[in-house]
Amino acid sequence: MTSTASAATGQDRTQQATVPQFAVISGAQVRRVLQGREKEIVELVETTYRLHGAGASVNPPSYFLRFPDRPSARIIALPASIGGQMCVDGLKWISSFPANVAAGVPRASGVLILNDPDTGYPFACLEASIVSATRTAASAALAADRLSSGRGRPTRVGFVGVGLIARYIHTFLAGTGWSFDEIGVHDLSADSAAGFRGYLEQSGTAGRITMHDSAEELIRSSDLIVFATVAAQPHVTDLSWFAHNPLVLHVSLRDLAPMILLASTNVVDDIEHCLKANTSPHLAEQLTGNRDFLLGTLADVIAGRVTVPADRPLIFSPFGLGVLDLVVGKYVYDKVMSSGDLQVIDDFFHELHRYG
Ligand SMILES: NC(=O)c1ccc[n+]([C@@H]2O[C@H](COP(=O)([O-])OP(=O)(O)OC[C@H]3O[C@@H](n4cnc5c(N)ncnc54)[C@H](O)[C@@H]3O)[C@@H](O)[C@H]2O)c1
Repeated sequence: MTSTASAATGQDRTQQATVPQFAVISGAQVRRVLQGREKEIVELVETTYRLHGAGASVNPPSYFLRFPDRPSARIIALPASIGGQMCVDGLKWISSFPANVAAGVPRASGVLILNDPDTGYPFACLEASIVSATRTAASAALAADRLSSGRGRPTRVGFVGVGLIARYIHTFLAGTGWSFDEIGVHDLSADSAAGFRGYLEQSGTAGRITMHDSAEELIRSSDLIVFATVAAQPHVTDLSWFAHNPLVLHVSLRDLAPMILLASTNVVDDIEHCLKANTSPHLAEQLTGNRDFLLGTLADVIAGRVTVPADRPLIFSPFGLGVLDLVVGKYVYDKVMSSGDLQVIDDFFHELHRYG
């Protein structure tokens, strides 16, 4: 007997377990569900951070598959499980091949598998790059909102590295009520910078757009700075560029020299996760031998367990949690199912009787 996953993951856990049907959800379907729902997704991400902060999730370390012959590439496995009302298990399997970009192919690609918590059966495979970009941007917009309260809302934003993630972050900031007087853009690639400028102009943003030749110029003239590069090691090393105490969304994690973190207030999404894989916080820990430079997590800030000082630069470094992908993926699954557009693969699970 098979069922859709909503029945299998429904309230009545005492029912006899049934094998869920297996569905495939395309990027086009994912995009249709998520587009224009920025506020709702930011709320979902906030709820997930709270649940994760309260221990209602299982989120082991991400596993990095790397290749000796392709050192810039990697594929990351992010397994996770979340309880509460959402109640779903799963895995995001996402590649990063930065060399794709020169050939006009996006850097990241991936799939998200959702598993039924009753039977363990996978019940859906979703295109994951849009889910991933969406949860990353929602987390950034949430952090910008919560971390700027008490220090004044920034009106000058600057983006360092302007690929897909920067575009999603801008869309999420705009979609959750942010507007800017000035938008600074800096990218090593003139094509990327021009593409992002084109996106901004099309999006109808009112702010003045300035293209910066250097990261220094952009940082000095922005109150909110978004790093979304593919830098493998720190390329921003001068603390004096941050003398105006900006809020920094350090989404690409490896741009800032550890000395800059050590002179700043640092907030992360998850301490154990973030102090790995040579992120800038990991380098700061290696340099000092301790974690004293961390104020806490975004969940700590949201819950009021820590107070964010306004007299230092404030840096948010989100490692990116698999639970966020799961929750956004399950949200998409539920919407596609309720609209009747779920594409089920008939007979995906075939050997369902132990002895034939
Ligand atoms: N923390 C998270 O949860 C999370 C989630 C998703 C992606 N990311 C990270 O976000 C980053 C951006 O992803 P994307 O898909 O937009 O990549 P992308 O390849 O589309 O864009 C990256 C851009 O950065 C530019 N760049 C590289 N080095 C630079 C430098 N030193 N200074 C200025 N510009 C530079 C490139 O020219 C490119 O335009 C990646 O590092 C990715 O790993 C983080």
